[in-house]
Amino acid sequence: MVEMRLWNPHVKLIEDGNVSTSSHDTSNPAGKKKDDLHTMKSVVAALETIAIMLCCGVFLMLLLLCALSRGSSLMNEEKAVAPVLPPDGIFSEFMIFSEKNSRKYGSKDEVTKRLDAYKSHSERIETWKVSKEHGNVEYGHNDLSDWTDEEFENSLMSKSFYQRLRKNEFLKPVPESLAQMKGEAGAPFPDYFDWRDRNVVTPVKAQGKCGSCWAFASTATVEAAWAIAHGEKRNLSEQTLLDCDLDDNACDGGDEDKAFRFIHRNGLAYAADLPYVAHRQETCRVSSNWNTTKIKAAYSLHQDEESIINWLVNFGPVNIGMAVIQPMRAYKGGVFTPSAEACKNEVIGLHALLITGYGTSKDGEKYWIVKNSWGDTWGVENGYIYFARGINACGIEDEPIGILA
Ligand SMILES: *[C@@H]1O[C@H](CO)[C@@H](O)[C@H](O)[C@H]1NC(C)=O
Ligand SMILES: *[C@@H]1O[C@H](CO)[C@@H](O)[C@H](O)[C@H]1NC(C)=O
Repeated sequence: MVEMRLWNPHVKLIEDGNVSTSSHDTSNPAGKKKDDLHTMKSVVAALETIAIMLCCGVFLMLLLLCALSRGSSLMNEEKAVAPVLPPDGIFSEFMIFSEKNSRKYGSKDEVTKRLDAYKSHSERIETWKVSKEHGNVEYGHNDLSDWTDEEFENSLMSKSFYQRLRKNEFLKPVPESLAQMKGEAGAPFPDYFDWRDRNVVTPVKAQGKCGSCWAFASTATVEAAWAIAHGEKRNLSEQTLLDCDLDDNACDGGDEDKAFRFIHRNGLAYAADLPYVAHRQETCRVSSNWNTTKIKAAYSLHQDEESIINWLVNFGPVNIGMAVIQPMRAYKGGVFTPSAEACKNEVIGLHALLITGYGTSKDGEKYWIVKNSWGDTWGVENGYIYFARGINACGIEDEPIGILA
């Protein structure tokens, strides 16, 4: 609201309190001045109303302008916005953000809400950049930057939900015959390995404002395992799990054990046949004559770095769960090493993801290469995070799952 007002010079005049002298003839008789002032106040009030109504229009026009002149949008915005910018320039930054992420806010209240969320998130990013509490990590904005904290937390799974639900029924302990292997052809494990180099990993998707990470992580695991086993990359449908897996709770969370059991029994439809809509639909449209993609087995791996690497190198990407702390939302590079303190006291929810590889940074920091489901503007390399390896940071090595398709 305040920022919006700064857009209009008329409104600014009122705030400055010099309306009466700026637009009127000073030679008027003194007695008339009071009336004039009164009339003027009404005029000003009317102007203010019009100005506020115009704000939305101006904002939309600017968005339109931006859209029309993609290449030089920054220049145009600066010209249009410069004279009335708040000192910190957050509004123009926000405008650029909205254009870049194709935002269409429905109302002035919505603009205000999103600007507020963006602004407070920006302020936090600045403190994270300075503190370096979670490793030598870069932070910045992404598609999630105008979400409120509540929206972000709702897209994660609550700790209590997960603990209540967790019970392995389908997942089996990894058979000894599969656990005894070493690197390819008996060689030691390589220093660096990533399934993305072998063209079996599908692009990162976006779960949106829906607590469906469990569906995205399990589907990503199946997509990779299928490509490794059958040499064909399939874009599979998370929505199958939201609509049809009634043992899990769609946007209110779910559990990989039940998800993999469902996929084993019923399979996943193609994404093209059942696209993602980020909520549970009334009916499960998958019928018996649809082609679905099933898996053979899912194993809970040993909870240690070696076992995860073993499965990764020999069989495929590894499904994992972890606790999330707020700074992860703005991760933009480096090896994210959440502090033990934060993983204990600042957890805002749980999340499921997929390890596609591992390596070691120039500074000797060991990392997992992790595929997320927060869209391709988040993290590095279109949706990935380099996450500390071997120290079970925020529980990342607690629940590794490997599957065979
Ligand atoms: C996979 O399918 C979804 C539809 O749910 C679509 O949005 C996405 O672009 C597809 N990805 C690829 C790589 O084709
Ligand atoms: C399903 O798979 C079979 C065998 O691969 C194929 O012949 C058929 O065209 C597929 N049907 C659909 C609807 O994709």
